[in-house]
Amino acid sequence: MDLDELKKYARERYIPIMLDDTRELLYKVVYECQPKRILEIGTAIGYSGIVMLSASPSATLNTVELSESSAFLARGNFNKWGMSERVNIFVGDAREIVPQLTGNYDFVFLDGPKGQYEAFFPYLTELLVVGGTLVCDNVLYKGLVEHVPENKRHKHITVARNMRAFLDDITTNKRYETKLYRIGDGVTVSVKKF
Ligand SMILES: C[S@@+](CC[C@H](N)C(=O)[O-])C[C@H]1O[C@@H](n2cnc3c(N)ncnc32)[C@H](O)[C@@H]1O
Repeated sequence: MDLDELKKYARERYIPIMLDDTRELLYKVVYECQPKRILEIGTAIGYSGIVMLSASPSATLNTVELSESSAFLARGNFNKWGMSERVNIFVGDAREIVPQLTGNYDFVFLDGPKGQYEAFFPYLTELLVVGGTLVCDNVLYKGLVEHVPENKRHKHITVARNMRAFLDDITTNKRYETKLYRIGDGVTVSVKKF
């Protein structure tokens, strides 16, 4: 199976995975950074993990996923790609797991629960080494982050507001140099300066 087949498998089953432009950007950024220790929030079935580990052949990946069935499929996929020994999957709620994580990471990919980015941000900053890179997907959240709908009962409004707070934070935070890419669902690439 190649990555496009894995993408097709996910799309046919409505499993959310990153969009093609995002995959291209993520591969490029990881390839340039050549991280050794990657943390990911939101494994799904391992698609983005395989992209990152392919781009940085000496990297290991710790990745967090709520859904047991997705984690099971991810395990199988990492195995098929010959990457199992480079991967640890933490199955559980990232809201509980992230505050308990320790260690140093030189690359973090945040692609988990969309309403929680701002809550995770201080923890991820502590885990990321100076000079490390934080990539966050869906920061424009269906276009709602910049154009909050009038209808206050819109089901995505709370998530959009939380994401807005996160986007404001990360783009103005002095500890990071951040670039916003208006591709896919919006992606930030941030380098921790101190
Ligand atoms: C957009 S998908 C991740 C896609 C994956 N990074 C990729 O591109 O291949 C988001 C994932 O986060 C998981 N998720 C949602 N809430 C979570 C939580 N509270 N803790 C951990 N994972 C969560 C979902 O089950 C889903 O698999």
